[in-house]
This record gives sequence, C-alpha cells and structure tokens, in this order.
Amino acid sequence: MTPLAGARVVVTGGAGFIGSHLVDELVARRDVEHVTVVDSLVNGSRENLVRWCGDRRIGLIEADIRSDDALRALEGADVVFHLACLGVRHSLHDPFTNHDVNATATLRLLERARAVEVGRFVHVSSSEVFGTAQRAPMDEQHPTWPETVYGAAKLAGEAYARAAYRTHGLPVIVVRPFNTYGPRSHFEGDSGEVLPRTIVRNLCGLPALIYGDGRQTRDFMHVSDTARGLATLAECDAAIGRTVNFGSGQEVTIEALARTVAWLVGRPDLDPVHLEARPGDVRRLLVDATLMRRLTGFVPAMPLHEGVAELVEWFRTRPLTPAQMLQRIEDRNWQSPAPEEVTA
Ligand SMILES: NC(=O)c1ccc[n+]([C@@H]2O[C@H](COP(=O)([O-])OP(=O)(O)OC[C@H]3O[C@@H](n4cnc5c(N)ncnc54)[C@H](O)[C@@H]3O)[C@@H](O)[C@H]2O)c1
Repeated sequence: MTPLAGARVVVTGGAGFIGSHLVDELVARRDVEHVTVVDSLVNGSRENLVRWCGDRRIGLIEADIRSDDALRALEGADVVFHLACLGVRHSLHDPFTNHDVNATATLRLLERARAVEVGRFVHVSSSEVFGTAQRAPMDEQHPTWPETVYGAAKLAGEAYARAAYRTHGLPVIVVRPFNTYGPRSHFEGDSGEVLPRTIVRNLCGLPALIYGDGRQTRDFMHVSDTARGLATLAECDAAIGRTVNFGSGQEVTIEALARTVAWLVGRPDLDPVHLEARPGDVRRLLVDATLMRRLTGFVPAMPLHEGVAELVEWFRTRPLTPAQMLQRIEDRNWQSPAPEEVTA
C-alpha cells in the first residue's frame, strides 16, 4: 500500500460533482499533505469546495486542462486523479471539443506526468466506454463499443493511459465508475442527469420526463462510495497497470427510479411522462465489480433508497428554490444550445 497520507495530490476536475467529494475524502479521511484542484469551472464551482475555503491544504488552479498552467500543476505531484471531462450530452452537440478535452488533453496530461515522474496516475474513465450491455453483469473483458463520442473519447483516454503504463512504465490505474449520484450532482444545462432533474421537477409538482420507454437500466452508486473507492484504489499497488470496473452491482430501471423519487417527494400521483428516446442512450448497464473487490476489499455502503432520500432532502434545502432550479434545466439537453445562449 502507498498511503495517501502525506502525499501531494492533484485532482483535475476537482471542483466538479465527483471530484469535489474526492477532495473531501482525501483531505478529511486520508490526511493528504496538499490537494491541488485543476478545474476550468466550466461545469464545476467554487461552492463545491467552499468547506475548504482558507485551508492551506487545498489550492485551486482555475485553468483548462488543455493549457500549460494545468500541465505545470503536475510538477511535484505524488498522485494525480484525472477527472476533468465534458459530459455525454455535451458530446452530442459539440463532439470535437468533447474529444479534445476527454481524449487529447488526457494524452497531454499523461505525457506531462511521465516527464515529471508523477508517482501514480489514476485515470477516471466511465462505463460509457462499453456502450450497452451485451451480457451482464459487465466485467473488464466486456467488449467496448461506445455509443457516443463521449464514450469513444473516454475509451481513447483510457487507452492512452494504458499505453503510458505499457510503453513507459508510468504507474497508471484506470477506473471505470458506472453511474454516480448524490449531493452536488447536476440538474442544469447539458450536465443535467436524470435523477437530479426528476427530483427538481417533482419538487415543483411536475412529473418526471423520461426519454424512451423507461426500461433502460443503470447501476447507481452513491458519490461518497465513489470517492472512497477512488481513494482506496489509488492506494492499491496491485491495481497499477490494471483497468477496474466500479459500481454498486444493483440494477434499476429509470422508470422505477422516477417512481421512487415521486414517492419520496410525497407525490406518488406524478406519473412519468415518456418522450422520444435520446440518441445514443445506453440500454443496459450493470457492473461486475469482482476485480475491484478482490484488489481492494471495497464494497459500497450506501443503499440506493437511502441515498436517493438523502438527495431529495439535499435538493429541498438548496439556496435556490425548486422553481429557480427548474429554469436552469434544459429538457432536451443533448441538442445544441439556442443561439441566444451561445452568445450569452
Ligand atoms: N457522474 C457519473 O455518473 C460518472 C460516471 C462514470 C464516470 N464519470 C467520470 O467521472 C469524472 C467526473 O465526472 P462528474 O460527474 O463529477 O462531472 P462534472 O462535470 O461535475 O466534473 C467534471 C469537472 O471537469 C471540469 N472541466 C471540464 N472541462 C474542463 C477543462 N477543459 N479543463 C479543466 N476542467 C474542466 C468541469 O468544470 C467539472 O468541474 C469524469 O471523468 C466522468 O467521465 C462520471
């Protein structure tokens, strides 16, 4: 084990949803010496890191990972967690930028990590590299047939990471989280995810919008488990050079999830409304996390119903009202933004 305690750590995308919880995990529980967050704040926020305001163990470099400032941040790092990325729906309306950030910039970071001899590079990929399940549960040998440019770019990124290990011996760990949910998850813009959007709509007295028949499935893990799992994996010497799937192992349909939310919000009468399917929407995802468990002993702790109930409460207590949040939801958020939004 290489303990994170006392380490100098860089987290790209550390002001985002998962990244900010990882920062919490690293500082509060793993006692790292210093965390440098590199984030352009395009989808992340300072607010996600506000509990560390004034703490000398945390630094934020507001920079694009495609910039030299971001590359410089890797100097002296013992461990790099690479999470910065643009999302799946973004890839449908802006595939070139999506590829540039998720694939090309990853290659540049890896080359830099090699040059400055980073001690460990944890590349956070995604279950979207698989496309829809051809068999389930999905282990690391499952074929990779991504359905979107996002999935393809994440696959390129992880392939570059493996190449850096094989060609140059950079100590790389590739991890593929399945779906993650919890506080700070996105409801807004093209980052908006089905669960937060459904909660906001139900809190406004509106039914869930489901694109497709609702029988598509996902494997949701609470973000506290995701953060703990990422830190645990980073400390595992046996994971170096490996690619590891990572999820709850619980499969849920989007329809069932929407009904759970309506019930938790106290509006079980709100039947979901079904609309035309989103292009590239993966049909089925379910992890086989045997390798993760074998390498690290990690098992997720938060049951889905408990985590969703907690998330409903979290959204009830936001400074923004549900009606204000609703205004920031874009229904078909994979389509190009309207012209006035582009120029705004
Ligand atoms: N959320 C999930 O369910 C999920 C599932 C599987 C994998 N992942 C992976 O986890 C990672 C984090 O995802 P998340 O859900 O927290 O998303 P997020 O959008 O909240 O976080 C990504 C962060 O990257 C930043 N970013 C984007 N482009 C950047 C750039 N060019 N330069 C610097 N920073 C940039 C954003 O501002 C944001 O803070 C991603 O790599 C994603 O592929 C997420």
